[in-house]
Amino acid sequence: MEKHWWQRTNIYQIYLRSFFDSNHDGIGDLHGVVAKLDYLKDLAIGVLWISPHYASPMDDNGYDVSDFLRVADEYGTIEDFSLLLREAHRRGMRVITDLVLNHTSDEHPWFQAAKDPAHPEHRKYHDYYIWQKPKTDDTGQRIAPTRWIGWFGSPAWEYNAATDEYYLHIFYKKMPDLNWRNEAMREDIKKIIRFWIDLGVDGFRVDASNHLEKNWAFPDDYPGYQHFSSLPKHHEYLRELGTELFVPNDLLTIGESGGANKEEALLYAGYGSNEFNMLIQFGHCWADIDDHHPILRGKWAKGTFHPSRVKASFANWYEMLDQKGWNVIYWHNHDQPRVLSHYGNTGVHRERSAKALAAALYLMPGTAILYQGEEIGMSNVDYERLDQFRDVEVFTEYANFRSRGMDHEAAMQVLRDRSRDNARTPMPWTDQAYGGFSTVSPWIDVIGNYPDVNVKKQENDPESVLSWHKTLLRLRAADENITHGSIRFLDPKNDLDFCYRNTGKDSELLVLTNFSDQFVKKSLQEPNLAKFTLFLSNCDALRTPTETMVLPPYAAQVYRRALK
Ligand code: BGC
Repeated sequence: MEKHWWQRTNIYQIYLRSFFDSNHDGIGDLHGVVAKLDYLKDLAIGVLWISPHYASPMDDNGYDVSDFLRVADEYGTIEDFSLLLREAHRRGMRVITDLVLNHTSDEHPWFQAAKDPAHPEHRKYHDYYIWQKPKTDDTGQRIAPTRWIGWFGSPAWEYNAATDEYYLHIFYKKMPDLNWRNEAMREDIKKIIRFWIDLGVDGFRVDASNHLEKNWAFPDDYPGYQHFSSLPKHHEYLRELGTELFVPNDLLTIGESGGANKEEALLYAGYGSNEFNMLIQFGHCWADIDDHHPILRGKWAKGTFHPSRVKASFANWYEMLDQKGWNVIYWHNHDQPRVLSHYGNTGVHRERSAKALAAALYLMPGTAILYQGEEIGMSNVDYERLDQFRDVEVFTEYANFRSRGMDHEAAMQVLRDRSRDNARTPMPWTDQAYGGFSTVSPWIDVIGNYPDVNVKKQENDPESVLSWHKTLLRLRAADENITHGSIRFLDPKNDLDFCYRNTGKDSELLVLTNFSDQFVKKSLQEPNLAKFTLFLSNCDALRTPTETMVLPPYAAQVYRRALK
């Protein structure tokens, strides 16, 4: 197995807007991150992944970039960014940034030129984006080139009268897709990447990386996802960046792709693949979808949670990359609901279930990414009004739900359960107003339980969810037996618990967690049980595991044995 520094590190994802507001404008910023570096260091974090910090109209909170070479005013300046790099590096931490390559904002100068035939640079920049002439339907009406639907639930084409063309936007109309077949565009993107490398960033999380290539035959399918996702040629673009920039500069790179077979997984994250070091994939993220929902589709259709699906996804990825590549483990990021609300329990078992989820995840092999607030057990939003939400996707989808006959309150509940804003509320640092995130009303409301769930309250409590995370993350950073072990799920089809053995070179863990609010009887037909002793638990537990055990609701009982 290849060994690299990034296999032994813990990554912490910072959603900049909601992390810490240092200048009292209600929006998180770069100085806010600097102010919390010691907190992160103490949590055994080695790498910070910062969500997009570039200049942007913020239609998609920075994933709509209007200038890749500038920092958004509300986040700070380029000097502030350099300060963050210096201060992180001084503490032995690295910083990776989000690299948004699939699209720009429609306010980016490239697009401004592209859409306007009178612009002096129109000819050059028009081809940086993807344009098609309108089609004519049977009735003679001019319509969009295809019926494709973008990821935020609205049509993927927008008409531009000045050129009498439609441009493609697979996310949102204010985020036109770049044309990766255009070599000049690719060269410009490389200049941008070099700029940030020269400034000292340690790597990138490459946003929406499997969408770079499109089917230029533009078949008229609905919703058409297969024509703008995971087309083979996108690997060529990624390899080009990898070979010219990522690998020679020894960067840590993490791609993002929903779904991949073994061949693709190895292209993305296989050792020496020259694309990425690791891949964020979503196989475990929606293990509770109701495929037969009368109104809702995909992630919006909440059904019964199946831990077996989570185990199956992780097992599949461990198998696909076995000895040949490296896995990321994470519960969720800024695009999914809070794991505690999603897969855990926010009622009487709140703390226990936060700990069980953490033990289940962070004792598995791979590199861990923790999303801000997970370490204190943050939960989903409790918003009463639609105007408390901020995400652009919320509004397109809310309209879709209503048009399919759902009433307002039912639609609100869908948003409270599934929307991306769940993960984007401000980090509660204290029990003071606005959770100590800011001194003024923040850009998005703090969740109501901040007086109980905040960093300050948990910091000095050895029994807190935060302390539990600290223990786990410190263990990971110190023990290669965990990060480099090999995993076997004990009862993969079981839908109540999440149990496995992680076998390292010198020691082995037996991790028993209960993902339900019931007592779960386990029959462990496992060799060498008597050699394990209790290592960690969030409830009363036996000193040594036995063939028949009863796991209390949301129990985490971790046993360990030496192998030498
Ligand atoms: C990011 C989202 C973003 C989208 C468009 C995703 O992969 O994680 O937050 O809206 O890309 O950039």
